[in-house]
Amino acid sequence: MVVTANSSTVQHILKSHFHIYQKGDFLRTTLFDFLGDGIFNADGDNWKFQRQVSSHEFNTKSLRKFLENVVDTEISERLIPILSSAAANQTVLNFQDILERFAFDNICKIAFGYDPAYLLSSLPEAKFAVAFEDATRISSQRFNSPVPLVWKIKRALNIGSERKLREAVGEVREFAKEIIKEKKQELKENHPLTRLSRFLSSGHSDENFVTDIVISFILAGRDSTSAALTWFFWLVFGNPEVEKKILEEIKEKSESPVNDEVKDMIYIHASLCETMRLYPPVPTDTKEAAEDDVLPDGTVVRKGMRVIYHPYAMGRVEEAGPRICLGKEMAFLQMKRVVAGVLRRFRVVPAMEEGVEPVFMACLTSKMKGGLPVRIVERLQDSVQRGHTPN
Ligand code: HEM
Repeated sequence: MVVTANSSTVQHILKSHFHIYQKGDFLRTTLFDFLGDGIFNADGDNWKFQRQVSSHEFNTKSLRKFLENVVDTEISERLIPILSSAAANQTVLNFQDILERFAFDNICKIAFGYDPAYLLSSLPEAKFAVAFEDATRISSQRFNSPVPLVWKIKRALNIGSERKLREAVGEVREFAKEIIKEKKQELKENHPLTRLSRFLSSGHSDENFVTDIVISFILAGRDSTSAALTWFFWLVFGNPEVEKKILEEIKEKSESPVNDEVKDMIYIHASLCETMRLYPPVPTDTKEAAEDDVLPDGTVVRKGMRVIYHPYAMGRVEEAGPRICLGKEMAFLQMKRVVAGVLRRFRVVPAMEEGVEPVFMACLTSKMKGGLPVRIVERLQDSVQRGHTPN
């Protein structure tokens, strides 16, 4: 395999020679039990079809409006009350866990029209969410097998982690299918309320395929924004001058009559980009060569070799690399609303010993190892206690 941080090579594999660098058999076999033919695990015409239908959906005004409503409701009815009671009771929260729950509720509501109610103050063990977490973790652990034969034998014998994976995937798919059935019914009764119903109404009725599509979307929307936000709050705490500028921007924008978070809030946008440069939610991305090739730097690639670009390393060299993500606008909208919603009212203070640096953990998506323990402090109360005017 080739691992690269060279931007000409990344341009080559993602753009000019895209047709050669596919997801390929290795990735497809490893993730197939979980992702099936969903967009993250598809090549060729199947990928193109999903990409076209979805990118059309992602660009509609109605999705944007729906997304704003979903995110705002989740912030005001769930996130803020939890932070506010943590502030009042001076409890320590695992902020990464809170943000994962937040993102999971949002993406399920958007993809499915289903509310798993995972972000509640009781921090419930929602069955679907736990099964999804297990399926993601065990599927990505397959990549750590010395050779694929090891997990394949365990799967054939239905033992250990493979048995757990089969159960988790079974639960996720069962659950997804139930919801898809409900939505189909909804469609029959002529109320195409959700993204999924719309997708079904464009003529795709094979339940297995629709389940695959939905699972990839949940995976995409679940851990990515929460990982970015966890690191963001950690970095903001260590950079008070940045926090001050962010607060100025929030104040300025909330006073302006026209408020478009995706285009406005330039400083918050840049702070989120800088967070993701240092701690990319997708730390590596693997392609497989469908034919022999030579990379721009002369490296010879044989058919079947894996070529991996490494955003974590790229964020530490001086040239910038391209990003291709369907959910980019959706992700920024969610993240900016969380940043503004949280920081305008609270300070997020890591509850760790001084000098302790969190550890970056790279899986399919990245995480902060062990989560981020924080205390939540109401700004007004905080400034009164510290004897300043509210900042
Ligand atoms: C901070 C948040 C996010 C980051 C860093 C991120 C990163 C990425 C990356 C690196 C890829 C390329 C993967 C590849 O080459 O196979 C990608 C693809 C994709 N992302 Fe995101 N993503 C984020 C949020 C989201 C959200 C919220 C969604 C919404 C569901 C989403 C949906 C997708 C989809 C559907 C693709 C597949 C595109 C394709 O294969 O053509 N992403 N994302």
